[in-house]
Amino acid sequence: LGNGLGRTPPMGWNSWNHFHCNINERLIRETADALVHTGLAGLGYRYVNIDDCWGEANRDYQGNLVAKRSTFPSGIKSLSDYVHAKGLKLGIYSDAGSQTCSRTMPGSLGYEQHDARTFASWGVDYLKYDNCNNPGTRPSERYAKMSYALRNSGRNIFFSLCEWGVDNPATWGSGVGNSWRTTGDIYDSWGSMTSRADENNRWASYAGPGGWNDPDMLEVGNGGMSMEEYRSHFSIWALVKAPLLIGCDVRTISGDALEILSNKEVIAVNQDYLGVQGKKVFGGGSEEVWAGRLSGGRVAVVLWNRGSSQATITARWSDIGLSSSTVVSARDLWAHATIGSVRGQLAATVAPHACKMYVLTPR
Ligand code: GLA
Repeated sequence: LGNGLGRTPPMGWNSWNHFHCNINERLIRETADALVHTGLAGLGYRYVNIDDCWGEANRDYQGNLVAKRSTFPSGIKSLSDYVHAKGLKLGIYSDAGSQTCSRTMPGSLGYEQHDARTFASWGVDYLKYDNCNNPGTRPSERYAKMSYALRNSGRNIFFSLCEWGVDNPATWGSGVGNSWRTTGDIYDSWGSMTSRADENNRWASYAGPGGWNDPDMLEVGNGGMSMEEYRSHFSIWALVKAPLLIGCDVRTISGDALEILSNKEVIAVNQDYLGVQGKKVFGGGSEEVWAGRLSGGRVAVVLWNRGSSQATITARWSDIGLSSSTVVSARDLWAHATIGSVRGQLAATVAPHACKMYVLTPR
């Protein structure tokens, strides 16, 4: 969407994957604090996004959405002030239907302008807009309404379409929003994460600056996968220019998970200004090569072992878009080491469910 936002994929945190409906204003404030003191905010994780269940079950007598009095007694404006004072941004959630997916609060259908103005007046910077409980009319139309309302709200608001099942949002999303879901919900398991990666891969050509495919939020740090699996999850999400929205409890994050999410070199691949979504370029059984172009003629490569035994995986230049005579230096983004000169192909031994990730720079 040409609103100037999302020129690179958004980075931040969202409450859903870890907390579901169990949220309150203290959690949001403490998460903002934690993003700052863990250093994550400084690395670019700036959106603090409140997901479903933040509102009262009914609008007030003037038709306004109201923050839930028992859990958000100070209101959303005071949270956005708090978050903004820390140099962060606030995100909120609504739905292009009569109720949100949890059915605990109203959706914005028929109230698009009204709610967009409310969000703007609260200082909201990001809207995740779901598609539950809709009357079956075309999502492209219902989402376009909210997109228009946001653009006329007086505030520049990142618009995240949380819609996947209907009308392939990748094919129309870039005119309406800054990102669109390409998959159903992710769960904190290897099986779920790998299938989200594959489903999202089909839409690679539709992503670019201002509009991104969204294979759903990160599960890193939630405990259901091994650290190798989380490293694979993060590497692939970075390579495919997915939104990097942390989904764990940042207040109690483990050192290992923090180290994964803090890898500056992997983040830099995600945030490369060229904005080309990397994709699966070779998939022979469980050994996969994913790659994508970066600025400056560089190429990012992930050698991903999706099998259960150790494997040697080879990225051939012909598969990753380099001419056969090209000599590159290969930077290993997890070992933080550089291999001086490589020609024709790059091979490495990769542990089960692990990956190796490189940036290749032609010499
Ligand atoms: C849908 C979305 C999730 C989350 C929930 C909230 O399932 O895909 O990310 O927002 O709704 O109810």
